[in-house]
Amino acid sequence: ESVKIHAPATVANVGCGYDTIGFALDGVYEEIAVSKRKDNQLVIQSIEGADLSLDPEQNVATIAAKALLDHIGINTGFDFQIKKFFKPGSGLGSSASSAAGAVYAVNQLLPNPLKTSELLPFALEGEAFASKSYHADNVAPSLIGGFIVIRSYDPLDYFKLPVAADLKVLIVRPSVEIKTSDAKGIVPKTLDIVTARNQWGNLASLVHAIHNKDWDRLKSSIEDFVAEPVRKSLIPGYDEIRTIAFDHESVGFNISGSGPSMFSLFTSSEDLEKAKEEINKLYKQKGISCDFFTSSMS
Ligand code: HSE
Repeated sequence: ESVKIHAPATVANVGCGYDTIGFALDGVYEEIAVSKRKDNQLVIQSIEGADLSLDPEQNVATIAAKALLDHIGINTGFDFQIKKFFKPGSGLGSSASSAAGAVYAVNQLLPNPLKTSELLPFALEGEAFASKSYHADNVAPSLIGGFIVIRSYDPLDYFKLPVAADLKVLIVRPSVEIKTSDAKGIVPKTLDIVTARNQWGNLASLVHAIHNKDWDRLKSSIEDFVAEPVRKSLIPGYDEIRTIAFDHESVGFNISGSGPSMFSLFTSSEDLEKAKEEINKLYKQKGISCDFFTSSMS
C-alpha cells in the first residue's frame, strides 16, 4: 500500500501577518511517496533536491509522522521517498511542506483515522523541530490549501479565508540561504503600542481588501512593521525589487516567510512578466543568480 502526494510551498506572513497568515502556492511543491512497511520502523529511503538528514529522528517528515502515530497509538512502519522541487532556506516553507505532506500521506494509508484539519498539531511538531519555533503559517496552508488565518496558537484555532479574486503571484528567490531560526532571532521580542496599532490596522485592512478586491487598499495594508524592517537587510536588492514590482502595477509585495524569497501580487500576467524581466536584469547586473516561480493565490 502506498500513496504519492504533492505538498505545496507556501507564502507565510503575507506582509503584515507575522506568524498568523499564509497561503499555498499552486505548482510549487514537494513530492512525498509513502508506503507501509511490514515492521514498525520509519525509514527515509531517499531525499532528492536537498542535502538533508535521512535519520528519522532528525528529519521533519518522520518526526511529524511519529507524532501522529504516537497520538493514534498505532505501531505501523512506513517508508518515505522525498523529492524537493524548491530548496530549504528559501522562505517558501520547505520543512513545513515535508511535515504537512508526511502526516497527510500517513493518515491516508491508515486509512484516515483523523480529518485533515485535525492533523495540524502533528505537522507542527515536525516544523517546530526544523525551525526551532512553533508557527503554523506555513504548515497550515500546505496541509489545508488556500489562504489560512491562525487566530490563536493556544488553543490552536485557525480557518480558511475565502479569497475573492484569482491573484497572480510572482516569487523571486535570490540564491542566498536564510535559516528561519536565524531570521526569527532578529525580529523584535516586544512592540510599542503605536507599532502594534499600525500593524493590526494593516492586518484588518488586508483581509477586507482581499474580500473586496480593493487593490489600492491591499497594496498599502500589506506593509509590515515587525519583521520586514529588520529582515530586508538580509535580502540583496530588496528595496529596488520592491520598486520594480510597484512600477509594474504590483498590488502587494513583501518577504515570503523568513526570506530570502519575495512575493509580488498582480492582477495581470503581462505586468507580472514585465516585472520578472526587470528583476532578472537587475540581479544579472548585481551578479546574483535568482529563480522565479509563478503561481496563483486562490
Ligand atoms: N512566520 C514565520 C516567520 C515563517 O516569519 O518566521 C517562517 O517561514
